[in-house]
Amino acid sequence: MAIRNFNEETLTAEVLRRIEDTQNPRLKEVMTGFIKHLHSFVREVRPTPDEWMTGIQFLTETGHWSDDKRQEFILMSDTLGVSMLVDFLNYQARAGMTESTVQGPFHRADAPQYPLGASVAKDPPDGEPCVVRGTIKSAAGKPIAGAMLDIWETGEHGYDVQKGDAMDLRGIFRTDAEGKFWFRCVKPVSYPVPSDGPVGKMLTATGRHPMRPAHLHFMISAPGYERLVTHLFVKGDKYLDSDAVFGVKESLVVEFRKNAAGEWEVSYDFVLKPTKQAKLAA
Ligand code: BEZ
Ligand code: FE
Repeated sequence: MAIRNFNEETLTAEVLRRIEDTQNPRLKEVMTGFIKHLHSFVREVRPTPDEWMTGIQFLTETGHWSDDKRQEFILMSDTLGVSMLVDFLNYQARAGMTESTVQGPFHRADAPQYPLGASVAKDPPDGEPCVVRGTIKSAAGKPIAGAMLDIWETGEHGYDVQKGDAMDLRGIFRTDAEGKFWFRCVKPVSYPVPSDGPVGKMLTATGRHPMRPAHLHFMISAPGYERLVTHLFVKGDKYLDSDAVFGVKESLVVEFRKNAAGEWEVSYDFVLKPTKQAKLAA
């Protein structure tokens, strides 16, 4: 086979031939798909050299904006719908089990642990007081005692990490013997994804707004069950149908109501999916 004078048709085949000896079969599959689709994209869009350089500069800038506090590549994946596509393909909840959604860039692994009933809001709270309660259960309706709920949310002035190092509006709780949890926080508000970097420029240039509908993040784990990363969205929010990161699922939209004490209150029962090993052992 000639190895010179490639043309538009033969070049892709030659690039693929060069990776034929890739040892790791999954890497070979991923790289083959990536090369094929990237070449098809270029054939379809026919960028000029200047346009191709603009694309490379956009990716370079995205890298420069990323560090341990700001992950501009995750934001790009989220705003292009890729994070939710990965979520759909990997975590399809079966009937009756709580659906997952995008994790986003604001989770912190080292959030404070609190007893049930505590508030995650520093004083003065950055929002209106809210009580969240519910149960964590198996699909068979068995309450899961000791399940870990890691929750985080934005206040009216953004996430704590956007304001400094102090932890606020995040915390870890464990369910009681009946699988129940309850904690205090602030009523979630809609807010913009970070839009001062290259992803923000992309959103503006493509006529999009950066807003996410109000939501509360949950990461729930318990031995024998798959970890669930999800949100509860506030019913009635004006951005539910145009979430900048495509994360809304109808089953996660809930009504927040005022209780007798004048605080917001919401309740939700989460249903976890057993791990494959736990199912085999059952
Ligand atoms: C968030 O909900 O915190 C979020 C998700 C995706 C991108 C930016 C923020
Ligand atoms: Fe969020």
